[in-house]
Amino acid sequence: MPKPAPADAAQPVVSPLTSAAMFLVLTVADGGEDAVRDLVPDLSAYARAVGFGRPDAGLACVTGFGSAVWDRLFAGPRPAELHPFVALDGPQHSAPSTPGDILLHLRAESLDVCYDFADHVLTRLGGAVEVVDEVHGWRYQDRRDLLGFVDGTENPEGVEAFDAALVDAERDLDFVGGSYVIVQKYLHDMAAWNALSDREQELVIGRTKAGNVQLPDDSLPKTSHVDRNTIVGEDGEERDILRANMPFGSFKEGEAGTYFIGYCATPTVTEQMLLNMFLGDENGNRDRILDFSTAVTGGLFFVPPTGFLDDPPPAPDADPDADSAPATPAAPAVLAAPTAPTANPRPTDGSLGIGSLKRS
Ligand code: HEM
Repeated sequence: MPKPAPADAAQPVVSPLTSAAMFLVLTVADGGEDAVRDLVPDLSAYARAVGFGRPDAGLACVTGFGSAVWDRLFAGPRPAELHPFVALDGPQHSAPSTPGDILLHLRAESLDVCYDFADHVLTRLGGAVEVVDEVHGWRYQDRRDLLGFVDGTENPEGVEAFDAALVDAERDLDFVGGSYVIVQKYLHDMAAWNALSDREQELVIGRTKAGNVQLPDDSLPKTSHVDRNTIVGEDGEERDILRANMPFGSFKEGEAGTYFIGYCATPTVTEQMLLNMFLGDENGNRDRILDFSTAVTGGLFFVPPTGFLDDPPPAPDADPDADSAPATPAAPAVLAAPTAPTANPRPTDGSLGIGSLKRS
């Protein structure tokens, strides 16, 4: 049977921006695998149950699985580029890798429907999972982050969004329509940020604050967030990811932050951006946004196509004759993939080749 096109096969990864989002990161308890696998085919029914009566809310539920839990849950082939989040330890700033087996990215016009969906899932799973991180995000002003800049403007749109975010048949025939998603929770030092003038802030981000236009090339610092995240492949084409960041905050916790979430057809593009931000280039240009924003979580998940969720493979031990896939790779061989961006050449020996890179 011919495989569907990536866009038809995908979970709602490419979705309109909403006013609210919930990000839930779960770990699966030892022995909780069966409960999780049993639930997976019902995820779409829960989304329908909650969303059908509230079409105005535009509920979009995306579920992703981490590298280690994949092998505990599913027999058969694994997504070609799935590996644990690569922690980064730069000279000034670190990107930690934190626990997480399942990501639920729930988006809607109001938080109550996200809550209802999560309630169905978490009540059903009970002690099979633990919620290790939970962030409720909301639209702030005209889609600004709490640093005061419009966030998301240069996201790819239309067919380019699907191309950037979704795995196609050439990349991985078994997982057409899947997506690799990287999440990080950032906390802002608002006092330090607010001590900068608007012009100084604009030089950190690389765009104007009020008008939201990119600074001209000759005044765009190499340390600006925009410069660090502009990635060009060997073919001279820009490599995009699809972001759905959300601001969040708590006065009680004294927190103001940005939940970063970036989808891509390959994790290598987002990983290259993180290298550029945290480790910088050969001249030591790192992303100045990190002087004001600290990454406190980090995770990499694969978002399988809907057909996989509706009819997941059996448990690994229930399928001894299946084409057994290699166990979780020791190091991301994808770092040497031909389509990987080339700003920092990567080794092909399976090592990370950078002394300060740590694996979780
Ligand atoms: C503290 C966390 C972050 C904040 C507040 C933030 C905010 C922003 C803002 C305001 C922009 C400019 C407007 C636009 O969205 O196009 C931007 C651009 C961008 N950001 Fe971030 N971002 C954060 C983290 C990240 C991370 C971790 C990555 C990648 C791993 C990333 C990738 C990008 C990309 C690709 C662009 C578009 C660059 C361009 O082509 O102009 N961001 N971000």
